[in-house]
Amino acid sequence: MAELQEVQITEEKPLLPGQTPEVAKTHSVETPYGSVTFTVYGTPKPKRPAILTYHDVGLNYKSCFQPLFQFGDMQEIIQNFVRVHVDAPGMEEGAPVFPLGYQYPSLDQLADMIPCILQYLNFSTIIGVGVGAGAYILSRYALTHPDTVEGLVLINIDPNAKGWMDWAAHKLTGLTSSIPEMILGHLFSQEELSGNSELIQKYRNIITHAPNLENIELYWNSYNNRRDLNLERGGAVTLKCPVMLVVGDQAPHEDAVMADSGGQPQLTQPGKLTEAFKYFLQGMGYMASSCMTRLSRSRTASLTSAASIDGNRSRSRTLSQSSESGTLPSGPPGHTMEVSC
Ligand code: BEZ
Repeated sequence: MAELQEVQITEEKPLLPGQTPEVAKTHSVETPYGSVTFTVYGTPKPKRPAILTYHDVGLNYKSCFQPLFQFGDMQEIIQNFVRVHVDAPGMEEGAPVFPLGYQYPSLDQLADMIPCILQYLNFSTIIGVGVGAGAYILSRYALTHPDTVEGLVLINIDPNAKGWMDWAAHKLTGLTSSIPEMILGHLFSQEELSGNSELIQKYRNIITHAPNLENIELYWNSYNNRRDLNLERGGAVTLKCPVMLVVGDQAPHEDAVMADSGGQPQLTQPGKLTEAFKYFLQGMGYMASSCMTRLSRSRTASLTSAASIDGNRSRSRTLSQSSESGTLPSGPPGHTMEVSC
């Protein structure tokens, strides 16, 4: 595993008096499936997992996670953890376009790159935070490396391969829509897209004018060729760690993502997501209740109905809601949160 480059960036967050700026460091490592780039914020905290994020198609770590990780109330959480933000190959800022015929890794292979990152950083466990394709990748990683995943936050995950109806619809859409439009339709609901808010204009502009659009299309193809995670309620394949399942109220494929409806809650609802994340970590024994904001404390009951908040680290299996098109892991009611944002 060779390190290819290292860039040092000083973050832009406003600092509190007496605070020193956190440094972000970008690294690349070689893996059996090609090179992968990731950016590390903060310093490793003894006896704590790293928070490792994986972004969705059409985005990179910044466009996917910056609004959440720079949200004010999120600071009291993330100061307790080192963060590793992975960019899928070819999605990092300034990435060159892959040559024609380049064999882009499958989502399973993208998951298989994660051990190289952790080994390089000498990190033993993570709490994964993934959106869409990134949520699928982190789930696959958790299934193959259960002992290294302490928790998962899965935002708008679709754990199933496309069925033939989905394929037919996808092919038909492909006849009339461009790749950026298809990806925007994956990220946002039709209602959001036609509303054309500033946020939609921003992301439409980012994706339509992406200099690495060919690379984005390769990640998109890998996503559409994903196989079933085969997670079944009570079945042989289950996630062993606590899971926080998040579904955006504006999710484009509501049944596939297992609740009332994609959207990008980490962009549109960072406050709600921060609050839920805090409860989730608290249930794992990582956030003292004294760290919770007054608002959080008053709303604990409404958001933690399915989560254990006894303050003990829980390694119990998770319980999640199923949909017609698929199910996520289940097990004894232990430590699962389902959040609709
Ligand atoms: C972080 O503090 O982890 C972070 C900062 C900027 C963008 C994404 C994440």
